[in-house]
Amino acid sequence: MKKKMMAISMSAAVLMGGVFLPAADGTAAVHATQAIHSKQEGKIAKKFNENRAYQTIYHLSETIGPRVTGTKAEKKSAAFIASQMKKSNLKVSTQTFSIPDRLEGTLTVRGSDISSRPAAGSAPTSGKGLTAPLYDAGLGLAGDFTEEAKGKIAVILRGGLTFYEKVKNAEDAGAAGVIIYNNADSLVPLTPNLSGNKTGIPVVGVKKEDGEKLLTEREATLKLKSIPNQTSQNVIGVRKPKGIKNPDIVYVTSHYDSVPEAPGANDNASGTSTVLELARMMKNIPTDKEIRFITFGAEEIGLVGSRYYVSKLSGQELKRSKANFNLDMVATSWENASRLYINTPDGSANLVWELSKNAAANIGKDVLALRKGGSSDHVPFHDAGIDSANFIWMEPGTESLEPWYHTPYDTIEHISKDRLKTAGQIAGTAVYDLVEKEERRAQ
Ligand code: BES
Ligand code: ZN
Repeated sequence: MKKKMMAISMSAAVLMGGVFLPAADGTAAVHATQAIHSKQEGKIAKKFNENRAYQTIYHLSETIGPRVTGTKAEKKSAAFIASQMKKSNLKVSTQTFSIPDRLEGTLTVRGSDISSRPAAGSAPTSGKGLTAPLYDAGLGLAGDFTEEAKGKIAVILRGGLTFYEKVKNAEDAGAAGVIIYNNADSLVPLTPNLSGNKTGIPVVGVKKEDGEKLLTEREATLKLKSIPNQTSQNVIGVRKPKGIKNPDIVYVTSHYDSVPEAPGANDNASGTSTVLELARMMKNIPTDKEIRFITFGAEEIGLVGSRYYVSKLSGQELKRSKANFNLDMVATSWENASRLYINTPDGSANLVWELSKNAAANIGKDVLALRKGGSSDHVPFHDAGIDSANFIWMEPGTESLEPWYHTPYDTIEHISKDRLKTAGQIAGTAVYDLVEKEERRAQ
């Protein structure tokens, strides 16, 4: 287990850029009425009901289960979220968009299935599949391919080159398909990332142990079909202030889709439950801002839902947009993940960080750190010039995520109500501070 945890920690650090920035300070208080605020803020924090949020996580991750982009389960989740938002008096709409063709398929050897993951950008096979001899292509360097590789399925070890370079070499050598196997033990098959490229031959990833087994086999059958005309959707719940023309807009967001086979309790039923809970807590508060509670689909295939949403904002809406609080992975029970990181895409302090830092101080929770980090739906908001940040529990120092991240073990058993509550209270207090009606502040 230790080995697995290390492997996953490392890849998480690389994914996130691995940059650690200590909490910036010396920035002015967000507004001068801070002391007056704390009383109200303490009150709002108490309204966060972690049991209710926990039930939402249970429903999404256990009752519905994996919510893969484009699937019925993702649509069912969207309908559930919309119904919950309606109870909080929001004006709810569903924004549908198309997603790239999804690949689905199987890898079989002598009639038995080997668990595999298609690479996004891979070619499909013909309807009856590709049955071909296997070819051991080492690391997939150009020199690893001989004439022998022609028409065969190349079995390639991860490492040394990028996934795309390996596939390119195989394709150039006339291979008919590629299977890339992991170089470290993993709980799920490797998903080769082709960095946005498309290939002319089918490409899948497998676990290390399965790759090693394949090297002892003669032939395999790869079947990959592409599923066209798929859609995903964002669920948007809006609360407009009364009697204010062109109010400032504040976005409270999460993604509700998951990767294949993962129930996505922490990633990201947790953030979604928090968005719904904040909407409920703020149902009747006096505000002078427009609050948009949004849960995005298609995050796991590359922030597709949030990019679509931001691309549809008008120039006028963009001008009114003040901040995005994005909640992604806020309830892990993994003990090491004891710090709540506020990830900003460029690593610098912004309005979301300042408000969160003050909120944490006001409710006596010294758990925050500022860090540079993307990989979630706050990025498109940042790219559009809006102050944005993601809330996420990680291990201090290593900045690792829990070992069951993106695996079938991301379940309700690994959810901490306590961490859920702390994240919800800090985010709730920070949002409230920003949206609370001006006249009340002076009182
Ligand atoms: N919640 C995760 C990732 C995450 C990790 C966010 C660390 C913030 C800090 C998110 O759902 C995810 O898996 N993102 C992808 C990237 C995305 C662009 C497909 C990832 O990190 O691999
Ligand atoms: Zn994820």
